[in-house]
Amino acid sequence: MRVPVRASLQEIEEYKPGKLVKGAIKLSSNENPLGPSPKVIREIINRLEAGELNLNVYPWEKNEEELRDEISRYVGASARIEKDNVVLGAGVDGVLDTLAKIFIANGDEALIPIPTFSLYESLVKIAGGVPRYVKRKSGGNFDIPVKDLISLCNEKTKLIFISSPNNPTGNCIPEDEIREIIESVDSRAMVVIDEAYAEFAGLSLVNLVTEYENVVVMRTFSKAFGLAGLRVGYGIIPEWLTSPYKKVAIPFSVNSIAIKAAIAALRDQAYLRKTVELVKHERAFITENLRRVFKKVYPSEANFVLADVSPAKSAVVYAELMKRGVIVRDCSSFRGAGDSFIRVTVGTREQNEKVVEALI
Ligand SMILES: Cc1ncc(COP(=O)(O)O)c(C=O)c1O
Repeated sequence: MRVPVRASLQEIEEYKPGKLVKGAIKLSSNENPLGPSPKVIREIINRLEAGELNLNVYPWEKNEEELRDEISRYVGASARIEKDNVVLGAGVDGVLDTLAKIFIANGDEALIPIPTFSLYESLVKIAGGVPRYVKRKSGGNFDIPVKDLISLCNEKTKLIFISSPNNPTGNCIPEDEIREIIESVDSRAMVVIDEAYAEFAGLSLVNLVTEYENVVVMRTFSKAFGLAGLRVGYGIIPEWLTSPYKKVAIPFSVNSIAIKAAIAALRDQAYLRKTVELVKHERAFITENLRRVFKKVYPSEANFVLADVSPAKSAVVYAELMKRGVIVRDCSSFRGAGDSFIRVTVGTREQNEKVVEALI
């Protein structure tokens, strides 16, 4: 006899990461094809060799504080963000998990404009909450129907998730629209702005955290900094929220190597600029070439591009590309995306040329 698991788990899908196949080009998880700065690798090796990382002890609070301080200077130069506004987690995923645990009790609701990152809905359900979906406008550029979203907000609504740039559509939410949402829901619900891809867009709404009490902004080292394997993300949150965050977050969820690597990554701004420039350049290249093949390719502010492959089915295009050694994302697994979208991560020129070759 097995102990029954919670009945609500029946409603939750297992998370399916982008496939990794030996020898194939993986453009399915929006990773950074350049990898991290060589200075980050050198720093970690040097510190490990010098025995300074003390892997036998738990991550040191002072190092965490140093990282939070660096982050506050990185994001907050013009936005009065202090280190006390910064919290860490095992990726944005880890920070989102903590936020869901803080705000969602049984029966509480969260608003999710779809299609979007699927973890939001899973975390809400795991916490016992009810996700409510608002379909993004499909005719144009997947903008959020702001009035519809606001009209769904009621006394049970605790969280509103907004990915900007949005995964998988690549568009940002304009500042005036997010302000309208924040001000309309007032302090009844927290607005979570997920800026995992902000560096590629070159804009951020982090300044809103100091203006409003009901806004948090999520950022990560997984994308522009090329450190997805180390799992470091952070939240910029209003100061009143730091105490609940500390109560709920799993202690030491960011490890000692990840902390040092993230500090070193922030200190190599030249490498970050180079990465972002390359992604923007290659994004234009892949967009232009996908447009030669597919009906519609959406403009993107992130490190991936969304294509409508209709009248073909995304599953067929995905499988055909896979046969030719290129792995993209079949977006039919995104709620509300239908079955004709694929998402292609921007790779190096060599990788992108292979994608184009495979498509043609
Ligand atoms: C919108 C969005 N948020 C968060 C994440 C996860 O980021 P992290 O690696 O920091 O957990 C992803 C990953 O693809 C994403 O697309």
